[in-house]
Amino acid sequence: RLEVTETFAGISLPGHLHTQESLSFAVAFPFRPTDVVIATYPKSGTTWMQEILTLLFSHGDVLPAKTIPNWERAPWLEQIYFREALQDMQDTAACRLITTHLPARILAPALQQSKAKVIYVARNPKDVAVSFYHFHRLAKFLPDPGSFDTFLTRFLEGTVHYGSWFDHIKGWLGQRQLLDIFYVTYEELHQDLRGTAQRLSTFLGCPLEPETLAALEQHCTFATMRDNAMANYTLIPIEIMDHSQGCFMRKGVVGDWQDHFSPWQNTLFNRLYQEEMGDLELPVRWPM
Ligand code: PPS
Repeated sequence: RLEVTETFAGISLPGHLHTQESLSFAVAFPFRPTDVVIATYPKSGTTWMQEILTLLFSHGDVLPAKTIPNWERAPWLEQIYFREALQDMQDTAACRLITTHLPARILAPALQQSKAKVIYVARNPKDVAVSFYHFHRLAKFLPDPGSFDTFLTRFLEGTVHYGSWFDHIKGWLGQRQLLDIFYVTYEELHQDLRGTAQRLSTFLGCPLEPETLAALEQHCTFATMRDNAMANYTLIPIEIMDHSQGCFMRKGVVGDWQDHFSPWQNTLFNRLYQEEMGDLELPVRWPM
C-alpha cells in the first residue's frame, strides 16, 4: 500500500497509513473531556508539541519520552494502528494525548460534542512547503514530489496529501468560539519555549514546576530531539522512511524558505496568500 492514495471528504491521504475505515472511525470518535488533541497541518511542529506535552504531563520525567515512540505516546487518530495504540495507552493516564492532521470540517463535529481540549500548531506556510517537500523525498508513503517548483504549485493548489494549507488553518481558526482551543505557532515555540510552555500549562490546568520547566526546555531542543530515537523516526524501516534521503529532524529553523524560493515563486505565493487570508486575524504575523 506504500504508494496508494486514499481519498476522503475531498482530500488525499497516504493509503499506507489510512483506510476508509480508519478515517470513518476518526470522524465518529467518542472524545473524552480529558482528552488533549494536537491538531496540525503536516510539518508545522507536531512532533515538537508531542514532546513538549509528554514532558509537561510527566512533570519533567524524561523516561516516557526516551523509551516510548512518540506515535504511541500521542497516536494519530486517523491512522490504521490507532485503535491498538489507544488500547495500549494506560487507562490510568490522567489524559490521553491524541494527534491529528485532519481538517476541522471533518473532525470538529466530534470534538464539539466533547469538552476535549485542542492545541492547534501553525507554521509559516512557506517553511511548511519547504519542510513538506523534503519530507516527500524520504517518506515512501508520499508521492514523488518532483522538483520544488512542481511541488510548490501543487501545495498552492491544495492538491498535495492532507489538502490545502489555507483550508486547514482557516477551518481550525473558525473553531475559536466552538472549541476549547489553544493556538500556537512554531515560530513562538522558537522564540519563547519557556513562555509558551507556561501558557500551555495554564490552558491545560497542568502545573509546571520550575524543575519541570528546566527538564522540558532541555529535552525539547532540536538537538536533543534529533538524537532521540523515540522522536526522530529512525525506528521506522527504510522501506517506509528512507533516511539516506534526508532526516525527519531536518533543520528545525525559521525562515528556511528564503533559501528555496525564487523571487517569482515568492510573488506568486504572496499573491495567493493575500487572496486566501486577506485580513484574517491570525495568531501571528509571519514575515512574508
Ligand atoms: S509531521 O510529519 O507532520 O509530524 O512533521 P512535524 O513534526 O509537524 O514537523 C516537522 C518539522 O518540525 C521540525 N522540528 C523542530 N524544529 C525545532 N525544534 C524542535 N525541537 C523540532 N522538532 C521538530 C522538524 O525539523 C521539521 O522541520 P524542518 O524545517 O523540515 O526541519
